[in-house]
Amino acid sequence: MKTFYVINGPNLNRLGKREPGIYGNDTLETLEQRLTQFASENDSTVVFRQSNHEGDIIDWIHEAESATGIVINPGAFTHYSYAIRDAIASVPVPVVEVHISNVHKRESFRHTSVISPVTEGQVVGFGLNGYELALRSFL
Ligand code: DQA
Repeated sequence: MKTFYVINGPNLNRLGKREPGIYGNDTLETLEQRLTQFASENDSTVVFRQSNHEGDIIDWIHEAESATGIVINPGAFTHYSYAIRDAIASVPVPVVEVHISNVHKRESFRHTSVISPVTEGQVVGFGLNGYELALRSFL
């Protein structure tokens, strides 16, 4: 049985209400239900975490050190959190970064990810499907 962590950062608890033209109408709960179903069909379990606080995200990356993989959407922390970058570098687990929107089509501050150099790859711009694509990359 494989165990994956899916970690969502700030403001992603507001999916469904937050800028629906960019992030869509589905909620975080719907996403978690879909991924639970996907995992059960693939001999896997998923641990879900979401926080608006950087330290929580860092603690969960450490907590996931024995997992098969981490899928992380660090929200705006992506663009400037060296602490999250260092947390990823501190664990032996492979990490895939997900962004719901195509960050490269948006404001220039979103074009930089300080996380990417310590991840296996990035899934960008495919909406909530990106999380399943990231899990598939591990399987
Ligand atoms: C995001 C993109 C970030 O720039 C933004 O701050 C988010 C969400 C995405 O999923 O598209 O909070 O990570």
